[in-house]
Amino acid sequence: MIQIAILGLGTVGGGVAKVVAENAKQIERKLGEPLQVKAVLVRHFKDGPYRQLMTDDFSKIEEDDSIRVVVETIGGVDAAYTYTKRALSAGKHVVTANKQLVAERGFELLALAKRKNVHYLFEASVGGGIPVLHPLTQCLAANRIDEVCGILNGTTNYILTRMVRTGAFFSDALREAQAKGYAEADPTADVEGLDAGRKICILADLAFGHQIDPKQVPMEGISKLSLRDVKIAQRAGYRVKLLGRALRLPGGGRTAYVAPHLIPEDNPIAGVEDVFNAVLIRGNAVGEVMFYGRGAGELPTASACVSDVMECLQASPKREDTGWPAADEGFEDPAELHTRHYFRIEGSLTDAAMAFGQVEVLSEDGETAFLTDSLSGRDAARQSRSLNVLACMRVLDG
Ligand code: HSE
Repeated sequence: MIQIAILGLGTVGGGVAKVVAENAKQIERKLGEPLQVKAVLVRHFKDGPYRQLMTDDFSKIEEDDSIRVVVETIGGVDAAYTYTKRALSAGKHVVTANKQLVAERGFELLALAKRKNVHYLFEASVGGGIPVLHPLTQCLAANRIDEVCGILNGTTNYILTRMVRTGAFFSDALREAQAKGYAEADPTADVEGLDAGRKICILADLAFGHQIDPKQVPMEGISKLSLRDVKIAQRAGYRVKLLGRALRLPGGGRTAYVAPHLIPEDNPIAGVEDVFNAVLIRGNAVGEVMFYGRGAGELPTASACVSDVMECLQASPKREDTGWPAADEGFEDPAELHTRHYFRIEGSLTDAAMAFGQVEVLSEDGETAFLTDSLSGRDAARQSRSLNVLACMRVLDG
């Protein structure tokens, strides 16, 4: 019998317990032994199926040598960071879905895991149930990764889909996403792009092999997005999606950011709806590879966590090192990145042309919506200074 502990019994922790119970036979067949949840760390005891397993004392888990893997589903940094360090130091493998902790302290926790000859795995931290970190670090290991880009937040994609498809209000769509267990404890992290930002940092760390400090990464969410721009974009053959992007720049530097984009409707990312995420990886040998699936929710996220638990127990201790150094060299401001830009201004086509030269008009209806030629974010901001800008987004150019 292999014993594990779960820290926290929210959406993800509860999902992990469910998957371990419901898929017990398949898991046992693959591990050669049954897998059992021995303890669940909670702050407040609650009645329910796991009441007998609950403890509010982490040292009971830390000191129990029969517990080989700890699944951290507390979220945030403070307690999660302390318990993760203690569990790794005690020689236990740790698995997590906690993107904030991995994005901020991953380099340090991976180094500790390596010293202790245990695993710190976090497939569920990006893309929910989609296998993307393992393919990036293992199946694509022969490539130089030049870009990672995708829809990385299920809540905002769900909200956008509901607003566009059914005309739902933002607040109603957010409430639905919360009820379905997609949103963070504080949904501001979803709506303002922080959650997607943490995920693009993790992807960039793994893709480029250097820590990217989330504080350096510009993160813009969907709270300022107007349905008017979404409709104008749609009529012109684009979809609006919140994207995280990490790119290797021509001069050798790297950049990353999160912002809403216009995406040409023939790009596969444009058709990704509801809670689904998609991650596109561009390698210099493989070209473009795309991963697609449910990016949030109890069972998809638990699927990734439990698979990581099984990998900890099966993998050889010599498994490839997926750590990255803390040094944060070579990060460049994404304002240097060239793309076409969408603008909606209070003004005429003449005003637009004076600022940008030739533009592609999408709508002239009192206001003017248009696309510029490819230019850097810095130039887009500089050239639009004289205009009354109502909306500005980048276009995802192929
Ligand atoms: N709140 C996150 C999302 C959960 O909506 O994508 C999965 O990381």
